[in-house]
Amino acid sequence: MAETKSQDAIALLKEAHREVEKLFKQFEEAKGDGRKQKLAHQICLELIVHSEIEETIFYPACEGTVDEDELKEGYVEHDAAKLLIAEIEAAEDGADDDFFDTKVKVLSEEIEHHIKEEEGPGGIFSQARKGKLDMDALGEQLAAKKKELIARYKDEGLPTPKLKTMDEVSV
Ligand SMILES: [Fe+2]
Ligand SMILES: [Fe+2]
Repeated sequence: MAETKSQDAIALLKEAHREVEKLFKQFEEAKGDGRKQKLAHQICLELIVHSEIEETIFYPACEGTVDEDELKEGYVEHDAAKLLIAEIEAAEDGADDDFFDTKVKVLSEEIEHHIKEEEGPGGIFSQARKGKLDMDALGEQLAAKKKELIARYKDEGLPTPKLKTMDEVSV
């Protein structure tokens, strides 16, 4: 299994991007509320875990190597996505939400944009690659944290996402 093999940090993050893109595609094609909610929950789990490992391990490791503005943009994009994730998760608790599918669609568009920021030419990953980061060691840390968080959130349920950059207003 791939997960037992150690993986370069960027390869691990990119693989998670492909996985969530696949889930969004499955959601788009899914029929039936039960199936859609299951997929939406899986998407939220993947994204919460992914943003948490990026924010606690990968982005801090990139400080001093990747442009500060680029990293700040990443953090704000994560927070913007967390707002929709929290909405989607809340709607799963039985409430009828006419905007449910639309929220998942808009989330997928935000994530698609964010993935380009990370993976695109001159983006966070390519800048990080040019630095002196130990991608194998970072990959190990990311994989361990990811495993721990998935186990915890499957057991305890997803936490309300914590915003890192937004506290000027509450809506
Ligand atoms: Fe990412
Ligand atoms: Fe990200």
